[in-house]
Amino acid sequence: MKHDKARIQLDVEDTPKNFLNILPHLKNPLPPPINPVTEEPVSPDALMALFPKECVMQEVSSEKTIAIPTEVREILMRSGRPTPLQRALGLERALKTQCRIYYKREDVSPTGSHKLNTAATQVYYAKKEGIERMATETGAGQWGSAVALACAYFDIEAMVYMVRISYEQKQYRSILMRTYGAKIVPSPSNLTEFGRKINKEQPDHPGTLGIAISEALEDTVNNANTKYTLGSVLNFVMLHQSVIGQEAIAQFDSVDETPDYVVGCVGGGSNFAGLAYPFMANDRFRDTKFIAAEPTACPSLTKGEYRYDFGDTAGLTPKLKMYTLGADFTPPKIHAGGLRYHGVAPTISALTEEGRITPYAFNQIDILNAGVLFAKSEGIVPAPESAHAIKATIDIALEAKKNNEQPTIVFNLSGHGHFDMSAYGALMDGTLNGDVPNGIS
Ligand SMILES: Cc1ncc(COP(=O)(O)O)c(C=O)c1O
Repeated sequence: MKHDKARIQLDVEDTPKNFLNILPHLKNPLPPPINPVTEEPVSPDALMALFPKECVMQEVSSEKTIAIPTEVREILMRSGRPTPLQRALGLERALKTQCRIYYKREDVSPTGSHKLNTAATQVYYAKKEGIERMATETGAGQWGSAVALACAYFDIEAMVYMVRISYEQKQYRSILMRTYGAKIVPSPSNLTEFGRKINKEQPDHPGTLGIAISEALEDTVNNANTKYTLGSVLNFVMLHQSVIGQEAIAQFDSVDETPDYVVGCVGGGSNFAGLAYPFMANDRFRDTKFIAAEPTACPSLTKGEYRYDFGDTAGLTPKLKMYTLGADFTPPKIHAGGLRYHGVAPTISALTEEGRITPYAFNQIDILNAGVLFAKSEGIVPAPESAHAIKATIDIALEAKKNNEQPTIVFNLSGHGHFDMSAYGALMDGTLNGDVPNGIS
């Protein structure tokens, strides 16, 4: 007899004590980042000029687990961890499905998404090194908000380059970041050489995450005592997010249930990895299917090539082996700003190549309609990014109904959409552009 709990909540002391590393669980060693000129693997030392030393060590670590520093764990605990695993009873009723649908509530974080898990960790390591200023980019603003708050906690200055189209669509996000004390500028900006170059070539450029990353990197290199902080893509970011999946496993175990599907949206890949990797690393879940949902407007996993490419548009980063649409790809101006990235984490790319992850792509009208159904049935307005995972979950449930199957599905509600209401407004006003049709054909 299966339980009928509406919400599975662990005690605050059950917040994970370790991060879990996926690298030792890959079938093949992960292709290393390479120097674009020599094509040789880059040394950790080169990365230490940009990132806190501890993060670089974690990037290449083959340890299965890494202890979470006490100060970071304390922040996680007062930011809502362990987050609830909630049963989507309202959504199940709305879909008339016998599937059991759960979602992991990363929206309960004070900044509204999973991003604080790694922001707090990275800023902590930087502070320990004596760093006084962090530079970063942000798409929809969830990452920038998390960095701004982490910097406020550790009394470090935060400089955020926010993709221009998102800056215009989500004005309250920049006010939130400023409330936490950060400095924000729309990207392409006139503060960096690369931003000025793009603005000269195309004054109305909407910006991309790739351009904003280039600006934040240029800022880091040119300013003393500054480190760069990245909210996705790299191994150490996936590592810090592993608290999500570790909690989810403990929550499912507490009710003796096993998910058949684990679903997440994918921009750079960190919320998906955070939920999925602890399941993937555990042989008990070898029959579980892992579904990644991305926008048709920026279909890196479904339409990209698996090859070495730059992580940013100016070509300042080492090259990473990943699914990519090309570092100069400018996605249409969709509202899921956090998914407008040309590449995907090398680990997600490798696991997709291994066949462990199945990607699907959805257009923004369909995902926002899924978001509306979720809001009406569960009460929570999801971030447009997270609405991709909801759309994938709904499709899996409807398909299962046709086949008379009743799988258990869990998806990551990576964030709430309280600062994304212009997207829902545009949907209801009928002014949204569906950009590209659904599907991966
Ligand atoms: C709520 C939310 N979900 C998902 C993403 C995508 O990033 P990632 O793929 O690293 O989780 C973002 C990025 O900004 C986000 O804000």
